[in-house]
Amino acid sequence: MKIKTLSEIKNLKGKRVLVRVDYNVPLEKGKVKENYKIEQSLPTIKFLLAKGAKVILVSHLGRPKGTDKKLSLRPVAKVLEKLLGQKVPLLNFTCHPERSEGSLSQLATRQRFFTSLRSVQNDKNGKSKVVLLENIRFNKGEEKNDPKLAKELASLADIFVLDGFAVAHRDAASVSGVAKFLPTYAGLLMAKEIIGLSKTTEKPKRPFVAVVGGIKMETKLPVLKNLLPKADKILVGGELFNTYLWAKGYGVGASAIDKKFKKESLDYLSNKKVIRPVDIIVGAADGKNARVLNVDKKFKLAKNEAAFDIGPKTVRLFAKYIKSAQTLVWNGAMGFFEQHPYEYGTYAVARLFATRSQGQAFGICGGGETVEVLKKLKIMEEIDLVSTGGGAMLEFLSGKKLPGVKAVSK
Ligand code: 3PG
Repeated sequence: MKIKTLSEIKNLKGKRVLVRVDYNVPLEKGKVKENYKIEQSLPTIKFLLAKGAKVILVSHLGRPKGTDKKLSLRPVAKVLEKLLGQKVPLLNFTCHPERSEGSLSQLATRQRFFTSLRSVQNDKNGKSKVVLLENIRFNKGEEKNDPKLAKELASLADIFVLDGFAVAHRDAASVSGVAKFLPTYAGLLMAKEIIGLSKTTEKPKRPFVAVVGGIKMETKLPVLKNLLPKADKILVGGELFNTYLWAKGYGVGASAIDKKFKKESLDYLSNKKVIRPVDIIVGAADGKNARVLNVDKKFKLAKNEAAFDIGPKTVRLFAKYIKSAQTLVWNGAMGFFEQHPYEYGTYAVARLFATRSQGQAFGICGGGETVEVLKKLKIMEEIDLVSTGGGAMLEFLSGKKLPGVKAVSK
């Protein structure tokens, strides 16, 4: 896949650059709880600033219905200020196409916005050349990809840089919409993610081993479907496997399953390329009465028991494949790792994955919970690509053409 990159922009000095980032980060008590996405956006911002550009950042946060103070990007602006070592003013940006364009309040709001924007951009003494627009989803037109909002955003800048890979699967005004009105390029993060993930879809080095776990089967089954012809082995855990066991007629007790996908789980997980757990850890949700259960003819859970992790024999089995891989992809935990002792399988897979990714295989993982595990184990650095995308990564791996990726493709 060929994409338009920042190095193709001839002259950035004095140019106004609108950068779509993804600062959809978890908040706790009004503060950013996890700033991986923010950190990952820094190389592009610093690159543009070093070239003398004026940077206007735009992002969403959460899924607000109209303006919602709890979903303001102010906590993000504070983190950015610390990381960049300069002021990052947060500007309200509203475009309500349903209101008459010439209304006085609309004109006044617009004027206030442009005055603030210019005062930051023309600040000769201060170093502040970065502004952050307030949560773009406060505008109704964002998710509907309203061309009026897209045009209004485009009017703020000379160039559009799309760097929020995590939102690349959304056909939104600030993602694919604005790209119709401005010269558009992939930011450094966006390019890194696309190039990295393409290593699994275009000529992967073999053996190519994927590990798929977690919940939300509706997002994992399309990944399996797309990866089955491409991967050499797919190691599965989590709800996918529980549902398969149930579909086979085993007693799965209170395990998380999705009955809608009976046929698909049987079809996909019966494939020879799929390596299924041979033992699992079952027990109570609070971690009590945990025991190892072999997956054999006698396999049966009590009514109040559930499958919460893969077992030790499965870890050894999975290790064999991970240790021989040249390309590795991982999405989704092996179990309920937040509750001791069910972290065992997920942590073991994470460590094996990280070790193999140190120069022997190209390793990619992603999804909120995966990042959480890697951070906890302090092994983030060992993995080639820790994707910022949850849904976007899964859709990319499902073989879909993402609107954001299309916007930066040549
Ligand atoms: C994400 O966190 O996956 C992205 O920011 C997309 O968010 P959304 O699912 O609310 O569109």
